[in-house]
Amino acid sequence: MKTKNVLALATVVSIFSGCGSVSRENFKQEISNPVESIIYYASLAGNSHNTQPWFVKVENDSIIHLKADFSRKLHIVDPDARGMFISLGAFIENFELAASSLGYKASIELTAANKNDSNIATIHLSKFQKSGFDLSQIENRRTLRTPFKKIEISKEHLKKITDYNSEIFYFSSSSKEGKYIAGQTLEAYTQQALDDQSKQELANWMRFSNSDVEKYRDGLTTSGMGITGFGGLFVRNFYKPEDSMKESFIKTGIEKTKEQTNNCGGWLVIIQKEDSANSWIKTGRLYERLNLACRDLGIGFHPMNQIIEEESFEKNVNTHLSLPGVIQFVARIGYVDEYPKANSVRRSVKEIIR
Ligand SMILES: Cc1cc2nc3c(=O)[nH]c(=O)nc-3n(C[C@H](O)[C@H](O)[C@H](O)COP(=O)(O)O)c2cc1C
Repeated sequence: MKTKNVLALATVVSIFSGCGSVSRENFKQEISNPVESIIYYASLAGNSHNTQPWFVKVENDSIIHLKADFSRKLHIVDPDARGMFISLGAFIENFELAASSLGYKASIELTAANKNDSNIATIHLSKFQKSGFDLSQIENRRTLRTPFKKIEISKEHLKKITDYNSEIFYFSSSSKEGKYIAGQTLEAYTQQALDDQSKQELANWMRFSNSDVEKYRDGLTTSGMGITGFGGLFVRNFYKPEDSMKESFIKTGIEKTKEQTNNCGGWLVIIQKEDSANSWIKTGRLYERLNLACRDLGIGFHPMNQIIEEESFEKNVNTHLSLPGVIQFVARIGYVDEYPKANSVRRSVKEIIR
């Protein structure tokens, strides 16, 4: 189709179907009690491909069981379920923070015996004094995929972000480790983007059209991925999820990733002593806290885990960086002038509670 015709078509479509993308603000959650409110805030946690791999069973007002939904597992890029447990850990972190803000103490009892166990945690809620934690911090947290400034993160901010935690490492983009992570991330991303099975799995979670966003309320949407303006309008109206497997889409993704890896202040890496369900949950809690802290300081946060998702890179990267533990999570961070509103969609609380 000629550009002129495409433009004309898109204009007509925009007039008849509305220009905007459906995003989080289009969905109103019906919250009936404090437990549902806490679950809502917990569900705003970051999670891989926005699969939201969780559901809860509310036994009563003070006992809640968190379960993993293995039907939402990413079998190709996450065969061990590490990313899935990290996502569940992030949910737990938000749960505890939201409970404390609303005047409850959440005692978390981790119950997963192994990585195939769907019984993640039993949470005991009891009345407690309000912590003063500001819930808007949870609502404003987001993944940011724009290029970041390359300037150093200040010492004062790094101290606030990492809190001297021995499981968190920071490498500035100008350090030799930072340059190494950037280069390996681009290579690993490219390998993953070209792999047929990974492509298909990603396509399964693409929600391009507004009707798919409304239907599923999960996955990767144009607004969540930062595809805005005419590009977003075009993709929303004319792309099918399978189009994400086309060469042109993949090429754009690789170019965008190059820009992302070349433009940041540095890299955050979370390690754990071992690979286990509980250490991944701990990683998820740390990830969520790091993302919240960065957002609060106006620092962009972008998880990029391809170097540990691609098996052929994982061992080499661990050996090369030689950290005192196994790398479990990697994120690009950096100052930004503009922090757009959090917009990735979530399923309704009524659906999460089974
Ligand atoms: C384990 C894990 C890995 C992730 N990997 C990536 C990634 O490689 N690239 C990316 O853009 N986002 C990545 N994300 C971010 C998720 O896509 C994001 O959290 C999700 O789409 C929800 O969006 P939100 O964080 O803006 O709420 C990852 C998140 C987690 C928990």
